[in-house]
Amino acid sequence: MSETKEAPAAAQDYPADVMDKLVSLCKRRGFIFQSSEIYGGVGAVYDYGPLGVELKQNVRSAWWSEMVHRRDDVEGVDAGILMHPDVWVASGHVEGFTDPLVECRNCHRRFRADTLASDQCPTCGVKGQFTEPRQFNLMFKTFMGAVEDSTSVVYLRPETAQGIFVNFRNVLDASRQKVPFGIAQVGKAFRNEITPGNFTFRTREFEQMEMQFFVEPGTDDEWFETWRDRRLAWVKSLGIRDDRLRLHPHGPDELAHYAKKAVDLEYLLPFGWKEFEGIHNRTDFDLIAHQEKSGKKLEYVEAHSGKRFVPFVIETSIGLDRLVLVLLVNAYHEEEVEGETRVVLRLHPRLAPIKAAIFPLVKKDGMPEIARRIEENLRRSFPVFYDEAGSIGRRYRRQDEAGTPFCITVDGQTVEDGTVTVRDRDTLEQVRVAADSLPGWLRERVEGAPAA
Ligand code: GAP
Repeated sequence: MSETKEAPAAAQDYPADVMDKLVSLCKRRGFIFQSSEIYGGVGAVYDYGPLGVELKQNVRSAWWSEMVHRRDDVEGVDAGILMHPDVWVASGHVEGFTDPLVECRNCHRRFRADTLASDQCPTCGVKGQFTEPRQFNLMFKTFMGAVEDSTSVVYLRPETAQGIFVNFRNVLDASRQKVPFGIAQVGKAFRNEITPGNFTFRTREFEQMEMQFFVEPGTDDEWFETWRDRRLAWVKSLGIRDDRLRLHPHGPDELAHYAKKAVDLEYLLPFGWKEFEGIHNRTDFDLIAHQEKSGKKLEYVEAHSGKRFVPFVIETSIGLDRLVLVLLVNAYHEEEVEGETRVVLRLHPRLAPIKAAIFPLVKKDGMPEIARRIEENLRRSFPVFYDEAGSIGRRYRRQDEAGTPFCITVDGQTVEDGTVTVRDRDTLEQVRVAADSLPGWLRERVEGAPAA
């Protein structure tokens, strides 16, 4: 969970108030809403709207495809959010998944002690009124069954990783994988963060995409580097800017209790360099801990040699919501076009919620009918959007803000020769394409699009 605290680099080229503008765009265009907004909101939980849910789904599928479908050495699972409470004793979370909490005696606001720069309260400004730090466990507790007592306590999982470790034996037996192999999972995690914030960067409910790769001890250092390089290459393939991306290896004082070595992928957000993925060498910490607590053997027996060992684990852990935020920030651009500010989300075409918008130039001369037929045809393969309202310029601007990579316009020439204009969101170039060939044309540019 490490984050560097240094200030953003001077080279940062964000437009003014970029986070406020992005939050407002996300609400206006239906990417992300505050949870329970009509009741005044609930702290650090967000809902995804029509465009946001598509974007999130595309990112999730891109990760699953990269980590599971395209590999023969990684299997998927989908474990329960509620697990046996002993899981969290064994993993060390009951004892150690804590942050130091202080309270201001004047205004009663609570803070993470390790994020305060001085003894002055950031809310009320009063000095020297913080209580002594106490360790605050970040796991949400609830009760299972009809009786609410200490024997029925269960936790909402704070990471998806443990659902993988407790299924190590099951997957090994069911899949016939051999070490080295991995298990991947995407799912919700919950943390009762003391100081959440920065929009969806740190929330109390979020989704993780994690993969645990089980290897023979002694080969772990090499596998750590392999996965670090693979993960870096993947985030770059999504179009994440090189100059806002860096690796942050953990120093000894930053390592989590389970890790021998760790490196974060960090992005230069408007509020500083921040971690969005961690790659960890978790050694045999988790499997040994579960073996001891459960009494079930979690070792691997090599078929040809009979050699027995408890595998080491290389973990790759990325927050889906945090990656979506990084991708939105990365995609957000403002530019001057013909004296007006154009706001555009340059999302990779594979991730864009809508792949193409279809416009009749005017609402007459058969153009809407042709445009509707094109829409119907394309909708069989892609999420597309039909729009005939307002000037063509306004329609383009609406799609730019939604990140739609292509706008298709039906005009007078379409009626004559069956071609349409296709406008590219990023270059603003327009080309004429035969309407019949649009599905193939679009597929090539969406699925075959190189890294931006
Ligand atoms: N299994 C290891 C693990 O959970 P972590 O560094 O605590 O490690 C991994 O979390 C990733 O999960 C982070 O890099 C981040 O992307 C995401 N994450 C963690 N806490 C989060 C929060 N409160 N809100 C949103 N995303 C979070």
